Amino acid sequence: LDNGLARTPPMGWNSWNQVKCYDVSEQVVKDAADAIVDSGLREAGYEYVVVDDCWQGGRGADGRLFSDPERFPSGIAALADYVHARGLKFGIYSVPGSLTCANTWDNYPVRGIGSLGYEQVDADAFAAWGVDYLKYDWCQAERDGIERQAAFAEMRDALAATGRPIVYSISEYGETQPWQWGPDIANLWRTTSDIAPNWSAVSSIIERQAELAPHAGPGGWNDPDMLQIGNGSLTPAENRSHFAMWAMLASPLMLGTDLTALDAETREIVANRSVIAIDQDPLGRQAERIRREAGYDVWRKELTGGRYAVALLNTGGASADLRTTFTELGVTGRYRVTDAWTGQVQGQAGGRIGTSVASHDTALYVLTPVGR
Ligand code: GLA
Repeated sequence: LDNGLARTPPMGWNSWNQVKCYDVSEQVVKDAADAIVDSGLREAGYEYVVVDDCWQGGRGADGRLFSDPERFPSGIAALADYVHARGLKFGIYSVPGSLTCANTWDNYPVRGIGSLGYEQVDADAFAAWGVDYLKYDWCQAERDGIERQAAFAEMRDALAATGRPIVYSISEYGETQPWQWGPDIANLWRTTSDIAPNWSAVSSIIERQAELAPHAGPGGWNDPDMLQIGNGSLTPAENRSHFAMWAMLASPLMLGTDLTALDAETREIVANRSVIAIDQDPLGRQAERIRREAGYDVWRKELTGGRYAVALLNTGGASADLRTTFTELGVTGRYRVTDAWTGQVQGQAGGRIGTSVASHDTALYVLTPVGR
């Protein structure tokens, strides 16, 4: 979307993967904002602090949405102020239908209210509260019999009418190939159903992105969903691959773990400046898969300055020697090859690069032209 925003993929934290509906509250959001600052993640580029579903309390007689008085007693404007005071930006969640996605879950205590019929009222309220990012999420809207693209476009226009810069993230799980129509409507669009904190979910989402590279660019990104790094059964190798591949795919980097309890190894992954720079490269290219074999993938992402990022992803069940060549990558000339994880310069005899990679881990390189 050509609204001047999200010229590189948005980075930040979102409440959903950490607490879903169960424990979302203003305290959880404040703790996340504080932790982003204290852990140095703000300096690494994480910016948007987003409250996902289940913040809603109801709609007043004046039509205005208000927040759940128990979970968000200070109100959303105060929460946005708290986040802004820490040098961060604030995001919120709504849906084009009458009820939010949480209503599909019978055991959730909250009955979220959507924006149907109140699009401009809600957009105005968000702008007045200081919202900088809106996640607008389809599910349940099916029941309201509304047209999907028109509904997403309506909120785009309502946000524009507020005059406040608000990143617009839409979510319809890739059901109607939103990469085809999303670039005119939103800054990012989900490409799959919800991610879960296990390798099978992460790897199947990566698989789905392989054909989508042509549709991403500054202002409009494929969104393979938020990060699960630090959650569930993901191992350190799987966390590295999750992060490396989201960076290769020029994906939004929205953390979804408890940042107040981040262990050193996980922090090192999500704070890695070289990997983040691959994601945030201003050229805005999404990686293409150069090779797919039983057991491993080779991906290549074009970067500014004639550079490339290359990922060797071990999809197999055991350690393996993974290799590629300049020829296979389609790059000509001389390059310095740097390991993005460690910063170490690699050997490249005869244009061959690679190393031994543990199961589900990823070797990640940056190729920089030399002697030109
Ligand atoms: C859907 C979305 C999730 C989350 C929930 C909230 O499942 O895909 O990311 O926003 O709704 O209910």
